[in-house]
Amino acid sequence: MTLRMKPVGKLDDMPRTSLMSGETPLEDMPNLTRHIGTARLLVKRDDLTGLAFGGNKVRQLEYYMGEAMAQDADTILITGAVQSNFVRLAAASARKKGMECHVQLEDRVPKNDPTYKNSGNVLIDKMLGATLYSYPDGEDEAGADAHLGELADGLRKTGKKPYVIHLSPGHAPLGALGYVDAAREVLSQCENEGIELDEVVLASGSGHTHGGMLFGLRALGCPVRVTGICVRRKADDQRMRISNRCREIAELLEMDPVVDEGDIILSDEYLGPGYGRMNEQVLDAMRQAAESEGLITDPVYTAKAMCGFLERAKAAKKEQTLLFIHTGGTPAIFAYERELGTAFGTQG
Ligand SMILES: Cc1ncc(COP(=O)(O)O)c(C=O)c1O
Repeated sequence: MTLRMKPVGKLDDMPRTSLMSGETPLEDMPNLTRHIGTARLLVKRDDLTGLAFGGNKVRQLEYYMGEAMAQDADTILITGAVQSNFVRLAAASARKKGMECHVQLEDRVPKNDPTYKNSGNVLIDKMLGATLYSYPDGEDEAGADAHLGELADGLRKTGKKPYVIHLSPGHAPLGALGYVDAAREVLSQCENEGIELDEVVLASGSGHTHGGMLFGLRALGCPVRVTGICVRRKADDQRMRISNRCREIAELLEMDPVVDEGDIILSDEYLGPGYGRMNEQVLDAMRQAAESEGLITDPVYTAKAMCGFLERAKAAKKEQTLLFIHTGGTPAIFAYERELGTAFGTQG
C-alpha cells in the first residue's frame, strides 16, 4: 500500500467534500538554500490549494463542509478577524457548494486604516456575497462564539439551516483532519522524491494546522521535528492548545495518543508587537522570501513563520533538509498596503 493511502484511524470515514485542486507542490528553494548556505530548504505550497486565492484553510474546510453537507445545512456561519483568511475561504467554500455565508468579523487588530477594513480579504468576502456582522472584542474567543450562537438562532428563526464553524477550543477539531491528511501527502511526496526531512516549520494559530500535521506525522511513524511559530499567543498558552488539539484528534479518529508533550515545539520569538502586527524582522523575512524565491508571504502568518524558518535554517547542518509549510494568506498584503508600500517602496 502506498503511503498516500495508508489509513490513519477513522480519517477516511469522516465526512469530507472536495475543495482542493489536487495535491499542492513540494518545491526546492534553491536560491534561499544557496543564500543561507546550510541545509536544503523546501517549501510546501499550501498557498496554492486552489480555491479563492488558496491557503491552509481549504484543507480544513473540506472536513467542515463535509459535515455541513451531511447535516443538510444551507448556510455557513463563521467568526474571525477582520482580515481572516478562514472567513474568506469559508465564504468561497459555501458558494462552491451552493450555500449562503454569514460572517462575524472581530476587531482583533487595533487599526483605524480604511484599507485594512475594506481591502484584501474583506473585499473578497463582499465579492462572494457574504453577509457581514462585526464583533468588537477580538481577544474574547468565548464571547465571539457565544455571539455566533445568537446569530445562528436568528438565522434559524428565518427558516435557515446554519452550520456553525467555531474558533474557541472545546469543539471537534475537524479542521485539523485536513492536516493529518496533509502529513500523508507530504510524506508520500518525500518518499517519491527520495527526500528525508529533518524539520518542518509552520505557523501556529488556532492550532489545527500544527496539531494536525504533528499528529499525522507521528501516526505515520515519522519522528521529524515540527516547529510551530506562534502568531496569536505566547508559547505556553499555545502549547496547551496544541496538546489539547492532539488529544481531541486522537479521540475523533479513535486512536491512541501518538504525540508526546516533548513533540510540541513552539517559538513565540516572532510574535512581535502581537497578532496581525509586524516589525522590521517580519518585513525582512517577507523581502527575503520574495526576492530569493518569488514567494509572497503575508504579514499576519506566513512572514512570521518565515522569520522562524530562516533562523532554524541558519542553525541547521549542511546534510539536513528543512520544510517550510506556506499556509497562504496572500490577500492580506493588500490590506496592509500602507505599511508594505512604505517598506517596499522604490524610487524611480
Ligand atoms: C494564512 C494562514 N496561515 C496560518 C494560519 C494558522 O493556522 P491554524 O489556525 O490552523 O493554526 C492561518 C489561520 O488563520 C492562516 O490564515
